[in-house]
Amino acid sequence: MGTILAMMFPIPGRRGLAFGGDYNPEQWPEHTWPADIELMRAAGVTMVTVGVFSWAMLEPAPGRYTFGWLDRVMDLLAAGGIAVDLATATATPPPWFSRAHPDSLPVDADGRRLSWGSRQAYCPSSPSYRTAASALVERLATRYAGHPALAMWHVNNEYGCHVARCWCDVSAAAFRGWLERRYGDLGTLNEAWGTAFWSQRYSDWREILPPRHTPSFPNPTQQLDFFRFSSDELLACYLAERDLLRRLAPSTPVTTNLMAGLAWEVDYWSWAGEMDLIATDHYPVAARTHDTGVQIALAGDLARSLAGGRPWLLMEHATSAVNWQPRNLAKVPGQLRRESLSHLARGADALLYFQWRASPAGAEQWHSGMLPHAGPETKVFREVSALGGELAALGEISGSVLRADTAILLDWSSLWAQEHACQPSIDLRPVGLFEAWHAALRTAGIVVDFAHPEADLSRYRLLLAPALYLVSDAGAANLAAWVATGGTAVIGPFSGVVNEHAQVRLGGYPGAFRDLLGVWVEEHFPLLDGESVALTDGSTGRLWTELAESRGAEVLAAYADGPLAGRPA
Ligand code: GLA
Repeated sequence: MGTILAMMFPIPGRRGLAFGGDYNPEQWPEHTWPADIELMRAAGVTMVTVGVFSWAMLEPAPGRYTFGWLDRVMDLLAAGGIAVDLATATATPPPWFSRAHPDSLPVDADGRRLSWGSRQAYCPSSPSYRTAASALVERLATRYAGHPALAMWHVNNEYGCHVARCWCDVSAAAFRGWLERRYGDLGTLNEAWGTAFWSQRYSDWREILPPRHTPSFPNPTQQLDFFRFSSDELLACYLAERDLLRRLAPSTPVTTNLMAGLAWEVDYWSWAGEMDLIATDHYPVAARTHDTGVQIALAGDLARSLAGGRPWLLMEHATSAVNWQPRNLAKVPGQLRRESLSHLARGADALLYFQWRASPAGAEQWHSGMLPHAGPETKVFREVSALGGELAALGEISGSVLRADTAILLDWSSLWAQEHACQPSIDLRPVGLFEAWHAALRTAGIVVDFAHPEADLSRYRLLLAPALYLVSDAGAANLAAWVATGGTAVIGPFSGVVNEHAQVRLGGYPGAFRDLLGVWVEEHFPLLDGESVALTDGSTGRLWTELAESRGAEVLAAYADGPLAGRPA
């Protein structure tokens, strides 16, 4: 269920579905490049992402730029009719940069400074990193604006994938600045953070730190604000690059690859409006017991929701095994096609892989590519080529805009607030609840969006809140107003219990939703691991029970056993 409303292709001037992957020619001798282009054409490749990790090859020494190789790659691709999603290459500074600016290296909550030697070794708040990144982007944009191969800009890579948060002194100062802008004065901050507890009251801004490793649990609101700040700092890095690109190459759309449904450290609602196109990566967790279709459906629904229902780009997925899970399973014959087409069915207009050629060296040498180590006479390359041909024939569906009438309510602040270590039960994991509820909707054949509780909800008929621990007053009022217009809301356990400062809403749970539901809860009774409770309607409860009474709600089932037997469930 879901309606296709209109056709709107996302990449200006290009039609059809895009097919291809990350192309890293700098890892290969130049004489292989023309053969790459020939093989890409044979496989139906129409777009590649170039240069994601090429900063060290583009600027081998401070201020010395070597664009010649990239010029030749861009020209070859243009001649082959293959569009380029050109990366700004800022995802990993070269070793010379990190050595010259040790204060740009990220620091973890234990105070350990992380080294260069893998990737993403920079503090998002570092002025030296931001200055060097902007200088590179300015050169790239000036040089390649208007290049016939250029289809879009790919800023950085998977923001927050390895370093979503940094606890260094530079970050601490930036955090204090962010807090001053948010709260204005220390009294308001002390109130919001509840610092009367455990002698935490702050009397000077300089006393405030990121939640570094402390003897016991950190202040929950300090932690939540630090997560919000960290997401904003990464967004500021993106915006700085985007604004440069928009100024220097105004006709080319700008995007970055999110990790929708895979990682939850960055508040993608605040990013979505700043991106010309929504792009995301997806890698299912491979296990014989996991249905990868469930994971793909959730990630695709989230990507489409971030895009406001419009088409989005699958910037990366794998042709077969990845290299970073405990056991990296190869895809069985047909699985590549099924999974790629599943993304298409959820609204993707581009299917791109990581990466074109499987690398012989480096940390990802055991990651699959479109062109495997064994060459083109392989299962993977045959399946890639077959899919490329198939997508060319499916081009007419590109630009479809899908409207769902059901949505799951999602607020990153709520997820982060519930991540605090001192919760009633570690089993009530919000992402796990999203996955379980989403899977049930998928089984019922219902296409579902994600929506922020404060967003315009008028298009939906059914809203579900599997895990909305934190809800703002504005969000709660928005939902109540929508219900008053005739909408049906399904609210999960332990939702609405804290306000936007993660402070408990007093007077009985579920706080913000007490009146809306006609339910009053006085105490939570989480279950032990593996424990269950019988309900009078024959179903079985796991994870969670609560001591509740109806205040206007119709009771459909009660607990049939356990300490709450006879009480409404
Ligand atoms: C991420 C990164 C890629 C690559 C793949 C491997 O998506 O963006 O550079 O490391 O993972 O799965």
